[in-house]
Amino acid sequence: MHAVARRLDGSLNFTRRVARFDLIQRDGHVIDSANRRDSINKAPEGCTSIHLAACGRMSAYDERRMSTSNTDLTKFLRGLRAVREFTAEPVSDDVLNDILEVGRWTSTGGNRQGTEVVVIRDADVKRRIGDWGARPAAGASVVLLLVTNGDAGVLDEGRMAERLALAARAHGLGSILATLKNEGPVEIRKLLGIPDDKRTVAVVPIGHIDREARKALPPNPNGGRKPIEQFAHRERF
Ligand SMILES: Cc1cc2nc3c(=O)[nH]c(=O)nc-3n(C[C@H](O)[C@H](O)[C@H](O)COP(=O)(O)O)c2cc1C
Repeated sequence: MHAVARRLDGSLNFTRRVARFDLIQRDGHVIDSANRRDSINKAPEGCTSIHLAACGRMSAYDERRMSTSNTDLTKFLRGLRAVREFTAEPVSDDVLNDILEVGRWTSTGGNRQGTEVVVIRDADVKRRIGDWGARPAAGASVVLLLVTNGDAGVLDEGRMAERLALAARAHGLGSILATLKNEGPVEIRKLLGIPDDKRTVAVVPIGHIDREARKALPPNPNGGRKPIEQFAHRERF
């Protein structure tokens, strides 16, 4: 078996591939040079080129080339927005599974791994989740309900949600973190057979972005962020 780097834009430039977080997959195709192929083939299944660099499996040449794309990467991270407008196009199981793998590898305090995910595609359940206050769930292709043990912190859960959202963005999808309100957390546990001692507040609806609907949104005067001087305090608050 050989490795292949799947490109979002179809081109083969390594630097761009890194910048776009493309996956390296073992699926029987070879497109890269011998050196790179060797690095890629030694990497674990599902490893990305980012990981290759981090664990020293990328050549010095490739690392130098990668440094030119660091700002692309931070731009990708900074550009994560809450998306509430989805088309009816389904999110494929392959893509969903890849997003779930990112969630599964989320760090947790003491590696407790106290947050699990229920994948919800059922239209009626998604509608109910929307009615319980997580409105964008109703129109999403898939909703990930985060189910968290009492002893796991909300920090763990929040980190998981963010990673799921970033993984969705890496696939060109939109997502949002939304919360069940009022009777929602209790009712969803009853509906989906989740034990009472679990926390069931956070959902991550994911779907293809309805770009026309987003373009038509009125400008949001509160959509920006504090200036960096008010956000980052150096040495003292
Ligand atoms: C912890 C948390 C809970 C949120 N809950 C909801 C929610 O229930 N419904 C919703 O529409 N958006 C929700 N959001 C999305 C925020 O409103 C959104 O991220 C914020 O307005 C900034 O917008 P932006 O991410 O597009 O820049 C939530 C975000 C976070 C981080």
